[in-house]
Amino acid sequence: MDSFLIKGGVPLHGEISISGSKNAVLPIMAATLLTGDPCVIRHVPDLSDVRFMGRILESLGAEVKFDGDTVTVHAAKVKGFGDYELIRKMRGSICILGPLLARLNQASVSLPGGCVIGTRPIDLHLKGLRALGAQLDISGGYINAKTRRLKGTTLFLGGRVGPTVLGTANIMMAATLADGITVIESAACEPEVTDLANFLVSMGARITGIGSPTLTITGVKTLHGTDHEVIPDRIEACTFLCAAAATHGEVLLHGARPEHFAAVLDKLREAGVKVERKAGALLVKACRTLKPTDVTTLPYSGFPTDVQAQFMALMCQARGISVITERIFESRFMHVSEMARLGAEISIEGPSAIVKGGRPLSGAPVMASDLRASAALVIAGLSATGSTQVNRIYHLDRGYERMESKLKKLGARIDRVDGE
Ligand code: EPZ
Repeated sequence: MDSFLIKGGVPLHGEISISGSKNAVLPIMAATLLTGDPCVIRHVPDLSDVRFMGRILESLGAEVKFDGDTVTVHAAKVKGFGDYELIRKMRGSICILGPLLARLNQASVSLPGGCVIGTRPIDLHLKGLRALGAQLDISGGYINAKTRRLKGTTLFLGGRVGPTVLGTANIMMAATLADGITVIESAACEPEVTDLANFLVSMGARITGIGSPTLTITGVKTLHGTDHEVIPDRIEACTFLCAAAATHGEVLLHGARPEHFAAVLDKLREAGVKVERKAGALLVKACRTLKPTDVTTLPYSGFPTDVQAQFMALMCQARGISVITERIFESRFMHVSEMARLGAEISIEGPSAIVKGGRPLSGAPVMASDLRASAALVIAGLSATGSTQVNRIYHLDRGYERMESKLKKLGARIDRVDGE
């Protein structure tokens, strides 16, 4: 398994371009199952999760062709069940269920695995599909779904901690071909859900309320192919903003859309980081002394849970106490014990991490555990003195396109080391 070897203490300087959004492209690739026409998707990041979704679609009978940052999916004929092992391995694959059911009136999809950040239930996905008239049963690790015809309805999709992103995606996709009108109340408003809705509309779907907590979908008979460019990855952008600030650097981000992460910009500015638009790009300049800052993760447009770990790594540089509260997932502090190995002083009190920042970090070998925790460890290693080896970086390759080459371009001393 590969590792990153980082020699910290170098301020990041220079310019990088932000790749397409992983969390937009995965449900958009699933949406291609809704039509027998070819769909062209552009600005696709080269990530293991994206290639994995391609293999899942191929296991369902679709033709998938990658050409640089463009993927063409042609689901002329699809079957209602795919490769159990493939589908089980990636949480994002749950969003093939809605399109398959809408296209074929039946589907068998393996239950998605949980992951280190939480149990990742799918009760809201199942609630929504049942509301649309699907009969569902779970047996042998599969969700078996069937229906005579999906029928539009009004349903509340909010869960115990608010909306569900992929749940909203699943139900919205299923509703595009249902009979009649579907109103989803407490829909997720993340930019990735909006990008999916725009993709569906470009296929001929009828959706209003896009970007709002109430989506209204009027079913149509069929959908046609389309050509769509995916939005930039706001989480990658925020990761690089935190890395630049944590290493006292100055970086110009091309292709980011600041309106997609206003909450993160607000907290960075509160901490003293300078972020401003410059000729259509985003310039981040570290400040001399970072201020400790409290953060609570919330559904969009609140502070995103996917930036919590990276921001924590930054707050280790701020002299004083920062309280970081995770309200979306029940165990998303896996990075804390690894950061302690670098000298970070963080204690966990229930849903909150109390960061006692200001003491310089010093390099050590650490273990990545999930995608964003790994990014946090890279940021901590970049800002620590000495060498840090981040092991199991296959977690990172799931969601960051060529992270080490982008960091090298900014002057970081980082190398990918082939593992055992
Ligand atoms: C999406 O996951 C993202 N993944 C996650 O990004 C992101 O952290 C999450 O949304 C929240 O923003 C993709 O888009 C591929 P949820 P999703 O359903 O849709 C609970 C990353 O690092 N819930 O919005 O699976 C759930 O347990 C990944 O890129 C239910 O209770 O997340 C959680 O507490 C990690 N029942 C909360 O809702 C359900 O049926 C939000 O989960 C579904 C979810």
